[in-house]
Amino acid sequence: MRYEGAIYRPPPEADAYILQCTIGCSYNKCTYCSMYKNVRYRVRQLDELKKDIAMAKAAMGDKVEKVFLSDGDAISLPSEMLLEILAELYAAFPKLTHVSTYAGPQSTLDKTVDEFKQLKKAGLTMTYLGVESGSNDVLKAVRKGVTANEMLTAGQSIVESGIKLVAMVMIGLGGSGEYSHSHARQTAELINQMNPYLLGLLTTVAIDGTTLFRQVQQGDFKLLSPYEVLEEIKILLENLQREGLLIDSTHGSNLLPMKGTLQQVKADVLGHIDNLLLEKNSNLIGKAYLGRF
Ligand SMILES: C[S@@+](CC[C@H](N)C(=O)[O-])C[C@H]1O[C@@H](n2cnc3c(N)ncnc32)[C@H](O)[C@@H]1O
Ligand code: SF4
Repeated sequence: MRYEGAIYRPPPEADAYILQCTIGCSYNKCTYCSMYKNVRYRVRQLDELKKDIAMAKAAMGDKVEKVFLSDGDAISLPSEMLLEILAELYAAFPKLTHVSTYAGPQSTLDKTVDEFKQLKKAGLTMTYLGVESGSNDVLKAVRKGVTANEMLTAGQSIVESGIKLVAMVMIGLGGSGEYSHSHARQTAELINQMNPYLLGLLTTVAIDGTTLFRQVQQGDFKLLSPYEVLEEIKILLENLQREGLLIDSTHGSNLLPMKGTLQQVKADVLGHIDNLLLEKNSNLIGKAYLGRF
C-alpha cells in the first residue's frame, strides 16, 4: 500500500481499507477547499492499483469488509476502470460488503444512470457527493462549477441507480448576511428533492491557503457567529421534509454534533436551539436597554 500526499476520507469510512485510485481532485476549484490544492491531478495506473490490492490482500485479506476509493473524486475514473477495480477488490477480499467513493458533481454528471447501475451491480455501495448548498448564488460564489439544478440531477442519478447517496452540505457557506437564511432554506429544499440516504453536515471553516481564507482576511466574507450557525441549523431542520432522513453532523468542523433520523434530531435539538437563541436575544435587548442609562 503506497500513498501519495494527504489522505482524506469521510468519518464513517474510518475502518475502511483506502485504495488511492487518483491523486488529487479532477476539479480542484472550490474556493473553500484546501484538500488537494497543491496536488497535480492524475489517475493511477490500473496495474499499480492491482499491486496495491494484492499487497492489502496479503496483509489483511480476510479482515477487509469495507473499502474507500480515494482521492477527492474517484468517480471521475472511466466506468470500465472502476468496474475492473471493483472486480479485483471483491475477488481479493472475501468479506467485502461495502465500497464507497467521493463523487464531485461534474464527474457524476459525466456518467449515465445506466453506468451507475452497472457500478452498483459490481459492488459500489455508497458515494459521498459535495452538494454544499441549494442556492445558485452560493454555488456560484464558491465556484462549485454547477447550478443547484445540475447538482440535483447529479444526486438523483446516483439515487436512481440504487447506490446509497450521502449528500454533504456546508453550514455557513453563504457567509453571515444576505445569503445565510436563503442558503439554509434552499439547501433543505434541494435535499428534499434529491432524497439522499444520509445528509452529512459540515460547518464552513476558512483554511489557510484557500480563496475563502483570503476573502475572510480582506473582509469580503464573514464567517457565521455560533448563534448564526444555530439559526442556519434551525432553518435547515425546519425546512427538511422527510422525517426518516438520516442526519449526521459528527464531523469535527461542527458546533453541534447530531446523529439520527430527522425526526429524532429535531426532537433532540430544536428546543435547545430555540432557548439559546432566546437567551441571545434577551441579552441583546438587555444591553440595548441598559445602554440608554
Ligand atoms: C472531497 S470533497 C467531497 C466530494 C467531491 N470532491 C465534491 O466536492 O463534491 C469533501 C467535502 O468536505 C467538505 N469541505 C471541504 N472543505 C471544507 C471547509 N473548508 N469547511 C467545511 N467543509 C469542507 C465539503 O462538503 C466537501 O464536499
Ligand atoms: S470540494 Fe471536492 S470538488 Fe471541490 S475542490 Fe475539494 S475535492 Fe475538489
